[in-house]
Amino acid sequence: MIQCKDLRKNFDSHEVLKGISFDIPKGSIFGLLGPSGAGKTTLIKILMGQLAYDEGKVEIMDKNPEKLTGKDKKNFGIMMDNFGVYERFSCRDNLSVFADIYNVPKSRINGILDEVGLLDASKTQASDLSKGMRARLQLARTFMNSPEIIFLDEPTSGLDPQTMRGIHKIILEKKKNGATIFLTTHNMDEAYKLCDNIALLNEGKIVEAGTPKDICRRYDHQKKIKLHLQTGEDVEMERNGESADEISELLKSGKVETIHSTEPTLETVFLELTGRKLQEEE
Ligand SMILES: Nc1ncnc2c1ncn2[C@@H]1O[C@H](COP(=O)(O)OP(=O)(O)O)[C@@H](O)[C@H]1O
Ligand SMILES: [Mg+2]
Repeated sequence: MIQCKDLRKNFDSHEVLKGISFDIPKGSIFGLLGPSGAGKTTLIKILMGQLAYDEGKVEIMDKNPEKLTGKDKKNFGIMMDNFGVYERFSCRDNLSVFADIYNVPKSRINGILDEVGLLDASKTQASDLSKGMRARLQLARTFMNSPEIIFLDEPTSGLDPQTMRGIHKIILEKKKNGATIFLTTHNMDEAYKLCDNIALLNEGKIVEAGTPKDICRRYDHQKKIKLHLQTGEDVEMERNGESADEISELLKSGKVETIHSTEPTLETVFLELTGRKLQEEE
């Protein structure tokens, strides 16, 4: 659905994207992970045809994004910063404006408000919404035109974990209905949970890509099993046949409280690859 090969983009003499390649199959969620300034938003703007690129090949729905027509773009949904929120309008009126622009029947509005959990707040003015509700309104707007491709630029940035989970549920529902989703985030848990494929972007280069699980497995250098016992003791064993009896004994004795493999998290992988943290300490 979306393909990129050796994509390069400069702002004056500053090369922001330095040869990006990926392929996003229809109906999947692709996550672009990277710290602030990595080039995530720039890439989204290029894919949507809002920004020209310098080199490489980019295709979205089999077209060069620079050649997309207004009609093609009606297949896109985009959530980015505060894009498209009219502060002095109610939730319903916000969506109503959008329905007019995109020629979507107003009868859809209630259903969409319900889908994102905002039906009760339909008359609330956008400026009075909590951060989480505002994110939901932006999602509602993004979904109004039933887009085939959805771009979500840091959709849960700054939200609390519970609100975040609510939004994840809505995103997964869209995937279930067949949408192709391009998501950027600097939250590795989010990426791990939602994405079929991810790419780690650092300073304009993809430093690793694959399914979240495969990436973590690839960087499991220790290949150990960690057991935490009820006594408070931590035991580490090699992950091989020789440890099997010992682990089995411990499990049978009922002393084992938790058991883990030493697979790293995406955050640890990113740190190893770049020496940088994905997410700033809060
Ligand atoms: N319109 C622009 N003109 C010049 N530089 C830009 C412009 N947009 C983004 N940049 C630069 O490109 C880099 C990547 O920015 P961006 O794509 O917004 O990163 P991210 O979304 O990952 O935080 C940054 O160094 C930023 O300053
Ligand atoms: Mg950005």
